[in-house]
Amino acid sequence: MYELSLRKALARFPLGGLRYFEQTASTNDSALDWAASGAPDLALVYAEHQTAGRGRGARRWFTPAGAALAFSLVLRPPGGDPASTPRISALGALAVCEALAELGLQPEIKWPNDVLLNRRKVSGILAESVWIGSQLKNVILGIGVNVLPEAVPPPEQLNFPATCLLNELPGVQPPSRLPERAALLGQILQALIYWRSLVNSESFLLAWEKRLAFCGEQVEIRVEGQPTLIGRLEGLGKDGSLRLVSPQGQAISVQFGEVHLRPVV
Ligand code: BTN
Repeated sequence: MYELSLRKALARFPLGGLRYFEQTASTNDSALDWAASGAPDLALVYAEHQTAGRGRGARRWFTPAGAALAFSLVLRPPGGDPASTPRISALGALAVCEALAELGLQPEIKWPNDVLLNRRKVSGILAESVWIGSQLKNVILGIGVNVLPEAVPPPEQLNFPATCLLNELPGVQPPSRLPERAALLGQILQALIYWRSLVNSESFLLAWEKRLAFCGEQVEIRVEGQPTLIGRLEGLGKDGSLRLVSPQGQAISVQFGEVHLRPVV
């Protein structure tokens, strides 16, 4: 994507600046550096190609040139409110869902923040908080969306099935007829800016819950170093935690963290 067309497509947003890279290691790393040297709120880092894209839990994230969307936003929470930090990841996931829904797709959120199409992961979110003492300075919200099949890693490198927009948009062949990535990024930003001011509200929680994948189904939850949990997925708690009911009928609450969720088949 050419820098000029990206700047044009994003001109209507109140960004705190835009850094465009044909290639960078990781937009989250570039955004962290920029934040450390005073990036304003809503500063955006965009890369066509990431050479060392990062996923959650120190996993790699593939961003081959021209095949994906990869960007990171610097968010400076008003008043350094730490309560909203875990919700920032959900904010990213909800914004991607709303942008994909505009394309006629039916995206879902695999709690806490993976975006699925037809039960395959199409987008991942990496929110990283920067604290100074007990004060939250900023959150770097990194978002990756697989657009073309080249962005989908080979199955042996996946811990959950993955897909890309081209595979999920019926009748959109060849790739030249895919929606412009700059326009998609614009849709994501629009939803993100809208929901950001509501991130601690009941309506945000409801919108997030409405998009939850596997509701009413048996799921398995794995957290490193803890026994695997199995239960029926019920929805969200008031704090954004995940509510399950165990096979014995007991309520289970799963807190935000490095959690692996998958349906029990
Ligand atoms: C995950 O699902 O594990 C999170 C993936 C996050 C990928 C995005 S791409 C843009 C930003 N830069 C990175 O290095 N990672 C995030």
